[in-house]
Amino acid sequence: EWTPGNVIAEQVEAIRATVGSDRVICGLSGGVDSSVAAALVQKAVGDQLTCVFVDHGLLRAGEAEQVEQDFVAATGVNLKVVDASQTFLDALRGVTDPETKRKIIGREFIRAFEKAAREIVAEAGEHEGEVKYLVQGTLYPDVVESGGGEGTANIKSHHNVGGLPDDLQFELIEPLRTLFKDEVRAVGLELGVPESIVWRQPFPGPGLGIRIIGEVTADRLEILRAADAVAREELTRAGLDRDIWQCPVVLLADVRSVGVQGDGRTYGHPIVLRPVSSEDAMTADWSRLPYDVLATISNRITNTVPEVNRVVLDVTSKPPGTIEWE
Ligand code: XMP
Repeated sequence: EWTPGNVIAEQVEAIRATVGSDRVICGLSGGVDSSVAAALVQKAVGDQLTCVFVDHGLLRAGEAEQVEQDFVAATGVNLKVVDASQTFLDALRGVTDPETKRKIIGREFIRAFEKAAREIVAEAGEHEGEVKYLVQGTLYPDVVESGGGEGTANIKSHHNVGGLPDDLQFELIEPLRTLFKDEVRAVGLELGVPESIVWRQPFPGPGLGIRIIGEVTADRLEILRAADAVAREELTRAGLDRDIWQCPVVLLADVRSVGVQGDGRTYGHPIVLRPVSSEDAMTADWSRLPYDVLATISNRITNTVPEVNRVVLDVTSKPPGTIEWE
C-alpha cells in the first residue's frame, strides 16, 4: 500500500544500507524536491549528511536567504553555502543553445559539489573519510523527460539527470526517483518539512539561466530578476499561488520591439508570463489568470524595469509547448 509513511520507512532503510558509515552531501536548492530528499537522508544517516547550497547566480530574488531561514531552521541540518556565481557566469558566456546551457550548468553544479566535498573533509579533520555519495531530488518526470525511462525520447536534459558530467566522482542517491510531485509533497509533510517549502512552486535547477532566451549575462539576470519578483509578488497578493502550478517569467533577451514612454521612443525587450496549471508537469494547461491581475503585473513591470517595454502572455499548453522555454 502506498503511504508516505511506508515510502519513508523503505527509503530510510535503503539509504542506510547503501551509505553505511560514509559521508554524504546533498545539493539543496530551496525547492521541494531537494529539501524532501535531504530530510529523508538526514532521517536515515543524521550528521553524516552535509547539505550544500550552490549560489549559481541564477537564483530569483531572496532565494538564498529562504533556504537558511526555512529549511535549516526547521531541520537543523548541516549546511554549507558556496558562492559560485562568477564561475557559472564565466562558463555560460556566449552560450545560447538550451541543451548546451543545461549541460554546462549541470557540470558546474558537480564541480561546485566536488569543491565543497573537499572542503568538508578538510574541515572535519583527517579521521574522516571522503564524501562518497551525492543526494539529488530527482523525480520520476525528470527521469522520463531526460530520456531515462525505457523507450522515451530526450526532451530536455534536466540538470540533475541528463546534465551530469561523465566523470562524476560521486555515487548518486536519488530517493525520490520513482515519485511524482504530489507524492513528494505528502512525504515532505510527513517528515515535518515546513509547509512554506512543501508548497513552493517548482523552480528548475538551472534557474534563470534557462529563462533568458539568448546569452546569460549579469545585466540580463538583473532585468529578469526584477520582472520575476513583480510577477511573483502580484500572484501571491491575488491569492493565486496554490491555483497555479508555477509561472515562469521569461526574458526574450535577443528580441527587441519599439515602444513609447512619455515623449520618448523605446526599443526594449519583451517579458513572457507563462502561468500553467498541472498535476505532474508531464502535461500542463495555460492558466486563465484574471485580466486585472495580468494588467497589474504588466503595468508594474513596464513601469519599474526600464529595459522592458512589453509583457506578453504564453497561451500554449504542454504539449506542444514545454513549461519552460528552454
Ligand atoms: P518542462 O519545461 O520540461 O518542465 O515542461 C517540467 C517541469 O520541470 C521543471 N524543470 C526542471 N527542474 N531541473 C529541475 O530540477 C531541470 O533541469 C528542469 N528543467 C525543467 C520545470 O520548471 C517544470 O516544473
